[in-house]
Amino acid sequence: MSVSYRKIIHVGAGIPYDVIIERNSLDRCGELVKNLLPNAERALIISDSNVAPLYADRVKTSLESAGYAAFIHVFPAGEENKRLAAIEGMYAAMSAAQLSRTDFAVALGGGVTGDMCGFAAATYLRGIKFVQIPTTILAQNDSSVGGKTGIDLECGKNLVGSFHQPCLVLADANTLNTLPPRYITDGFGEIIKHGCIKSSELFELIEKHGTDVNMIEELTARSIEIKSGVVERDERESGERMLLNFGHTLGHAIEKCCNFTGFAHGEAVGIGMLMMTRASEAAGLTERGAADRIEAVLKKCGMPTACDFTYDEICEAAMLDKKRRGDSINIVLLRSIGESFVHKIKCADLTDFIRGGVKA
Ligand SMILES: NC(=O)c1ccc[n+]([C@@H]2O[C@H](COP(=O)([O-])OP(=O)(O)OC[C@H]3O[C@@H](n4cnc5c(N)ncnc54)[C@H](O)[C@@H]3O)[C@@H](O)[C@H]2O)c1
Repeated sequence: MSVSYRKIIHVGAGIPYDVIIERNSLDRCGELVKNLLPNAERALIISDSNVAPLYADRVKTSLESAGYAAFIHVFPAGEENKRLAAIEGMYAAMSAAQLSRTDFAVALGGGVTGDMCGFAAATYLRGIKFVQIPTTILAQNDSSVGGKTGIDLECGKNLVGSFHQPCLVLADANTLNTLPPRYITDGFGEIIKHGCIKSSELFELIEKHGTDVNMIEELTARSIEIKSGVVERDERESGERMLLNFGHTLGHAIEKCCNFTGFAHGEAVGIGMLMMTRASEAAGLTERGAADRIEAVLKKCGMPTACDFTYDEICEAAMLDKKRRGDSINIVLLRSIGESFVHKIKCADLTDFIRGGVKA
């Protein structure tokens, strides 16, 4: 494993920022933030109950060494806690830490922590800065970049939120050493997605190396380059950014069908990508062979390729998707591996479209 890997990817969003991919950058967060926020005085580290005991003290020490007064707020881990009640706890901690508008928060954890800390930062005092220190493969390769923040409601995922870009992202691959194996494979769902929609080279790397941890920083760099390019061109998801939803219409539906407990997010997205590509191949919209390659790569990464729900159940759940517009829904399809497009389909036709992809 390369110990000296260091790559900085500049995200040219409305308010630009850097993603630094470097081992042990977590211990340098104080000095790195100091360059960006020299006038801030106080920082609140927000982390979940699994990640905080592992890394929060190191981040606090680094921030204090750089001269900041640093505090830690811990919330219970898990998607089921990605709720407004946890955000209220974060506001209370921000207030107790006496954060002012020039101070900042640090999201230390996976996608749940990043989405929630980002949302609390977007709304506390009408917006304070925040730093992302992602500690899962999913967060390092996807969710920490792009500025989508938010929480779940009883009736669906990520239904309340805002766009709020971080001021810095530190992807420290050493934090992945403590990640439970299931979240290693799960995180590959979004990396495979990035390859499918924009880069056949990235897809081929995963075909060749699977989840080999020695490759992770190279994959992260390519993933973040793809995501940041899309975000730069369409920060608010009015066009190209929709491509990042490849696999998500059916993936979210599968998550909903199993009440967010059976499949992890990336696993459900993987099945969604495969189902959609089988269907679009059958409809003549995708180059032949793409679905078989997706199936093979999911298997190589140890991910599921099917679920027990019926097409009717999945499509019914998909109708509640945020991307639904009246009686139509925008779905993302592949022309071939590495090339994608948005396809509008009548809601009434979705089930037949998906059923068309059932392998004889
Ligand atoms: N904002 C976006 O653009 C975007 C994109 C994709 C997904 N998401 C969101 O991301 C969330 C999923 O993220 P996730 O898979 O990272 O989930 P997560 O944050 O719940 O982390 C998964 C589990 O791993 C634990 N964990 C995290 N890092 C660890 C580490 N280094 N060592 C040990 N344990 C660790 C967590 O406590 C949790 O139990 C979903 O809520 C999804 O909606 C957001």
